[in-house]
Amino acid sequence: MIDLRRFSTTDDATAAAAWFIMARLQTKPDLVLGVATGATMVPIYANMVAAHRAGVADFSQLRCFSVDEYVGLPATNPASFRATMGAHFYDPIGIDPAHCFVPDAMAANLVAEAARYDAAITDAGGIDLMMLGIGINGHIGFNEPPADFAGRTCLVELTAETLNANKRQFTDDVVQPTRAITMGVATIMDAREILLVATGAGKRQAIARACAGPVTPTCPASILQTHRRVMAILDEAAASGL
Ligand code: GLP
Repeated sequence: MIDLRRFSTTDDATAAAAWFIMARLQTKPDLVLGVATGATMVPIYANMVAAHRAGVADFSQLRCFSVDEYVGLPATNPASFRATMGAHFYDPIGIDPAHCFVPDAMAANLVAEAARYDAAITDAGGIDLMMLGIGINGHIGFNEPPADFAGRTCLVELTAETLNANKRQFTDDVVQPTRAITMGVATIMDAREILLVATGAGKRQAIARACAGPVTPTCPASILQTHRRVMAILDEAAASGL
C-alpha cells in the first residue's frame, strides 16, 4: 500500500520530499539514492542545496544512480539528464563525481551498457531510497505503458506522448532523442524504499490511477502499490483525483 502524504502547496510538498531524503541520509551517510530528473524534482534539489549551503546536510558520502538517460546525448550536453543533475544538484553540493552514476547513453553497445548499469547498482549494495516522478501516462523512469513489470535496466523507445511532454527540455539546436536507457520496473522495485513525488494538476489522473487504480502494466506506476515501503508526497492539485 502506498503511504499517501498530501500538502496544500507545491512548495510544501517538495520541501517535505527534500527533508524526507535528508532524514534518510542522516541515518545512513553513504545512502544509495536513485535520482530522477524532471520539473517536479527541481525544487527538491533546490531545498537540498539550500540545506548544504546552510551546513545542515552532509552529502559527502552520498551515492546517486540516475533512473534514466536519453540515448545519444553526451553528458556535456545541457539537455542530458547527467548535465541536468549536475546543474541542479551535483555541482552545487560539490559531490565527488565518482559517486554519481548514470547510464552511458553514448555507449557503442547500449544493450550491454544497460546490463552493466544494472549490475553496478547491485555492486553498490542496491538502492536504499528511490526518488521517482511520474509521467502523465503513468510511466516511472522511462518505463512506458504497457510496462514489463519483470524488466531490468534496458533500452527503450519513448512514446509520442512522452516526447511531447518532454520537448520543453530541448532547445532548438538539440535534436530530441527518441530512445533512452532506463532502470527497469523490477530494478526500481528492488529499491529498499521508494519516494514518489507528484505536483500539479497535470499529474492528477496519473496519480489517481497509480495509487488507487488496479495494478496494471497500462499504468506502470501502479506496481508501486505492491512495494513494501513506498510513500507518495503530493500537492493538493496532484492528489485531487484521489
Ligand atoms: C520524465 C522522466 C521521469 C520523470 C517524469 C516526470 O520523462 N523520465 O523520470 O519523473 O518524466 O517529469 P516532470 O517532473 O517534468 O513532469
